[in-house]
Amino acid sequence: MTPSAPLGLLAELTHRCPLACPYCSNPLALVDRNDELDTETWVRVFHEAAEMGVLQVHLSGGEPAARRDLTDLVAAAHDSGLYTNLITSAIGLDPQRLARLKAAGLDHVQLSIQDLDAASADRIAGYRGAHDRKLAFARAVTGLDLAFTLNAVVHRANIARVADFAELALTLGAGRVEIAHTQYYGWALRNRAALMPTRDQVTAAMETVERIRPLYANRLAIDLVTPDYYARRPKACMGGWARRTLNVTPAGRVLPCHAAETIPGLEFWSVRDHALADIWAMSPAFNAFRGTDWMQEPCRSCARRDLDFGGCRCQALAIAGDAAAIDPACELSPHHATLLAYAEQDSTPADFAYFHRGRAAPAPA
Ligand code: SF4
Ligand code: FES
Repeated sequence: MTPSAPLGLLAELTHRCPLACPYCSNPLALVDRNDELDTETWVRVFHEAAEMGVLQVHLSGGEPAARRDLTDLVAAAHDSGLYTNLITSAIGLDPQRLARLKAAGLDHVQLSIQDLDAASADRIAGYRGAHDRKLAFARAVTGLDLAFTLNAVVHRANIARVADFAELALTLGAGRVEIAHTQYYGWALRNRAALMPTRDQVTAAMETVERIRPLYANRLAIDLVTPDYYARRPKACMGGWARRTLNVTPAGRVLPCHAAETIPGLEFWSVRDHALADIWAMSPAFNAFRGTDWMQEPCRSCARRDLDFGGCRCQALAIAGDAAAIDPACELSPHHATLLAYAEQDSTPADFAYFHRGRAAPAPA
């Protein structure tokens, strides 16, 4: 059976980034600049994506502005008919360059923000001066009348300020704020002991989002990426494996999710060797957990299996040691108690430090 077309393409243009956020979802082994896809190959990928029915491309990284050809890439994606979303830290994008991106067809900007006050935000980002540059960039985005989302990844150091993030988003002119509880893959898993909030903090943050949503109705959409470690049921990670999106890494490997390369034994195909449509339909990694036939019990006979698709394969591997197992975020998992124990252990205040990607030594959190 031919799978239906994906809706979105995450184009990880580069792993280079001036920031070093401790929750970064990039892999611990970053792709070297010399191994990045060239402009021509990305242009082909965007055309192929549009032809197979993809609607949106998310230009991401690392920091996509580290690519000198970013304007050409935006133009190519736009000319292919894709809705173009730039996911950026703002560093490397002055108002003139942003205006050129808009002229090339950029539709939407998603800006990350680390905290409300500059000292804390810069400490989390591992980059002095980042916060003020982000605020200035946000004004340039709205000045150009670009659609704009503010993204705040929340964790122990900033989770108490979810309402303030929403208010900041409104003040900056965003139409949407994404409150994203940290997902523990990549660098976030490495930093889990420095990032994990307590159960009470998570409960309070979730209640706050529900309380303020109606207050911002018609002015600001509030999206929530839910936390896993204190959950009773998992989220449908990626909307289900190989169902809605694909990720192309800076080196051209095509993944069903950003952490899929942590799963040993999966065979990933590259856009250097294959057409994107063939990778989507036929590559071993995409077919490994597509649909429900691969499921073990209790997912196989569970009424929710077509809603959450058994949760997250990468989390199942990280906690249960088996990517085909039920996600430990589900309370029906034999490893659910282990997940909770990790959360409780790692949220206990203690001396901790952030391991910033690309930095030699850990820094105080
Ligand atoms: Fe989802 Fe599997 Fe849990 Fe059912 S048993 S809720 S399908 S993770
Ligand atoms: Fe890989 Fe969830 S991050 S399936």
